Amino acid sequence: MKNKRILLIIGGGIAAYKCLDLIRRLRERGAIVRVVMTGAAQQFITPLSVSALTNERVFTELFDLNDEREIGHIRLSREADAILVAPATADIIAKMAGGHANDLATSVLLASDKPPLIAPAMNPRMWLNPATQRNVARLKADGVRFVGPDQGEMAERGEAGPGRMSETPDLIAALSAMLGMGHSGPDASGPLSGKHVVITSGPTHEPIDPVRYIANRSSGKQGHAIAAAAQRAGARVTLISGPVTIPDPAGVDTWHIETASEMKAAVAGALPADIAVFCAAVADWRVDNENGQKIKKAKGAPPPALSLVANPDILKTVASLKSGRPRLVVGFAAETEKVLEHAQAKLKSKGCDLIVANDVSSATGVMGGDRNCVHLVTRDGVTSWPEMGKDEVAQKLVEELARLIETGVANQPSAAKSKSKAKARAGRGDAAKNARKKKVRK
Ligand code: C5P
Repeated sequence: MKNKRILLIIGGGIAAYKCLDLIRRLRERGAIVRVVMTGAAQQFITPLSVSALTNERVFTELFDLNDEREIGHIRLSREADAILVAPATADIIAKMAGGHANDLATSVLLASDKPPLIAPAMNPRMWLNPATQRNVARLKADGVRFVGPDQGEMAERGEAGPGRMSETPDLIAALSAMLGMGHSGPDASGPLSGKHVVITSGPTHEPIDPVRYIANRSSGKQGHAIAAAAQRAGARVTLISGPVTIPDPAGVDTWHIETASEMKAAVAGALPADIAVFCAAVADWRVDNENGQKIKKAKGAPPPALSLVANPDILKTVASLKSGRPRLVVGFAAETEKVLEHAQAKLKSKGCDLIVANDVSSATGVMGGDRNCVHLVTRDGVTSWPEMGKDEVAQKLVEELARLIETGVANQPSAAKSKSKAKARAGRGDAAKNARKKKVRK
């Protein structure tokens, strides 16, 4: 959670007192916590206690001229990595479902560009009321995620049932999962629920000898972000990653490989899939004469000659599968010039449904950086997106993939007339053995 910006919206319920502990635990984990309190919340706990714990001012008013000048509700909402509403009362849930924005909390939520996490807390009868259940269903359909409510005794004597706000560890686990760092199962209501998505990410390393290798500057950030976004969208995700220094995305079955040949075998082992996204910067060539021992410098001898051979083209192989081809096959084109021209050519030569093209010339800082500017190239044309963070590109791309697979646009027979049928079958059975498979504990 280090340096993650959490916007906590505290609603008016007795469970608000749990937020004081929640803030402490989040800050212990390195999170930066900003708090918006509704008027009703201030009847249960004071802004003073909250600000003492967050070490930040607490935001309470929509029409506070100072706030609007310094930090308005749009910035409050956009600057957050995650928004948690806790306790979420029946009233705040109803307002969210109806799109109301008549106070700071609801305005922040309506202005948000990311779905919030909701921790309901209310009397069981209020929770079970058809009106509340309708509102919850509507919000879930909009992509809003819920944690709880738990079952149990209410603060009111003699009342029990579903309606208790989840405990701090559960809130933190749900937030972590949302931030792509924790562990959560696929979201059954997500747009990719029930789909299997295979994603390649990162570079490959092609050994020269036991200590040296050929590599490239790919960080894996974009591919890993796509894996996390697909997982959030409810998909079962298999991520096949080359050597990277970033962590495995939470809840994603991540297989670690080194070479292009291992990646190809792992992909074959991970299929069948509904969607395959080939984001990895696979080395085009490997050393033909890999040395079993470290190549030694011999006095007066010339440098060793490296002879290169082409690596298997994994994207093309999968896109041209005659049986078992994923319905949607997506490639990436990392180009340093004539980006669209090369991407369009690649769409044809690879036989995939979509090419995500980006300019990786060193001035763009895309390779290894946190931002990206991409163009989506299909047979129907080009859609260019403005520059944004790689997480945002991932989120939007996943939404686009869900739309394409839903509308059935994908899986038109754009597959290249590849000669690599036999190659496509090769390695399938060995994949699980070959890939150093690392299962993430759920
Ligand atoms: O041909 P080029 O490397 O530019 O193509 C990029 C696309 O093809 C990416 O989607 C990449 O993951 C995929 N690729 C592959 N296997 C290779 C080379 C590229 O899957 N050997």
